[in-house]
Amino acid sequence: MANLRPIDLFRGWPAPDLIPVQSFQEAAARALSDKITSGAGFGYGPDEGYFPLRQNIAQWLTGFYGPREAITASRICITGGASQNLASILQVFTDPLQTQLIWLVEPAYHLVFRSFEDSGFDGRMRAVPEDEEGMDVHALEAALERHHAVGSNENSSNGYVTKPHRSHRKIYKHIIYCVPSFSNPSGTVMTRPRREALVRLARKFDALIISDDVYDFLSWTGSSRKPVGSQIQRLVDIDRTLDGGPLDRFGNVVSNGSFSKLLGPGCRVGWAEGTEGLVYGISQASVAHFTPFDIISLSNTSPPSGQTKSGGAPSQLISTFINELLESGTLQQHISTKLVPEGHRRYSLMVSAIKERLTGLGVTFSQGPEETTLVGGYYVWVKLPDSIDANQVCQKALETQNLDVGNGGLFAIPGGGSGCKDLHRRLRLCFMWEDGEHLVEGVNRLSLVIQTLLGDMQSRVTV
Ligand SMILES: Cc1ncc(COP(=O)(O)O)c(C=O)c1O
Repeated sequence: MANLRPIDLFRGWPAPDLIPVQSFQEAAARALSDKITSGAGFGYGPDEGYFPLRQNIAQWLTGFYGPREAITASRICITGGASQNLASILQVFTDPLQTQLIWLVEPAYHLVFRSFEDSGFDGRMRAVPEDEEGMDVHALEAALERHHAVGSNENSSNGYVTKPHRSHRKIYKHIIYCVPSFSNPSGTVMTRPRREALVRLARKFDALIISDDVYDFLSWTGSSRKPVGSQIQRLVDIDRTLDGGPLDRFGNVVSNGSFSKLLGPGCRVGWAEGTEGLVYGISQASVAHFTPFDIISLSNTSPPSGQTKSGGAPSQLISTFINELLESGTLQQHISTKLVPEGHRRYSLMVSAIKERLTGLGVTFSQGPEETTLVGGYYVWVKLPDSIDANQVCQKALETQNLDVGNGGLFAIPGGGSGCKDLHRRLRLCFMWEDGEHLVEGVNRLSLVIQTLLGDMQSRVTV
């Protein structure tokens, strides 16, 4: 172990060689050498973000997803990435005294749990199971109906609210969180009928769907390297047109986009798309911290200071660089000539290694280029043989093989009941961080760990 190079199949970052550093340098030089652009970049940005970037994102998304109607800049606001934006959305559109429950697909992207807890929803997250068609919308509907049938403490706030009334917001009764395309960690793509059913359900129960769409651009079909974005109809596109369109000016879906997986997480730039009312609301996010005393004493005449009002749009300077990348077509080219072919190559490499080294040991996984037409994202979600536990594997992999893998248990909703029953037998393996021999070597080391554990079990049975 001492001499083994560390291999990290857990980290969900783009590898350093997938970051377009040179293009970034050129884009930054162009932005900084133009007086108007750099002047805008170094200032406090408008609440909704750098307007040229909003326009270019709108155009880019229209070209990629091909919605019925073109996406306009007014439907987009600039964010500090999907995580920052999740916190802003909760800040603006929820109130722990009025919003009841947070429903998350399970397995879920584990790093969102803290955001929900810190926004007042500790103990109020609920797991919704997923199958090969994505979130089980029937199960969600049944759970929502049960919740409301048992008199769900709808009026428990006794008239108190933690946030003042503002015309730019509404407080939703429920939040539904999901990653409908190339989900983290399971890689699942939600089907169109499920997406429509989910939007209808959100409307029925006054829920806001927060749809993390951060992997949509990284997709390919099993047999070709062509991006297949237009096959995806986002929840936000569905909300725009389904049954005559949104029920009110806020709608029921926000698409949470990010440049982290496309350009590098350090950019800290993303975008939100939704109705004009919803994105304007996000752009008015506040970061006021409330104490129980505030809850009682707060009145409409003492509003909290707003984070954007005081600090301007997030990531304003980098927004001007990314705008250069989009306007020149460099980002689009980077995705189609580098990220998608590389994703396809690394994915195939990992899948071949899994088939060669792990399936004979009883490990299974749900995706494969031959078996599915739509593949993408960053992860392969594998299932261990019955007798083996993910905790044991992760611990032994680290101790004996200097190998880090994602423990399935991490993706369980804290205290949220059982959505996915076999998380203790699951591992998430990322194929976008390590490459080539290290990717294959990582899978080989994992197979050694599993063999050892199977051997231990065997000898225990024999003794
Ligand atoms: C589903 C999902 N949402 C959000 C993020 C984080 O995005 P950002 O870097 O834009 O905050 C990740 C990163 O792994 C993710 O997988």
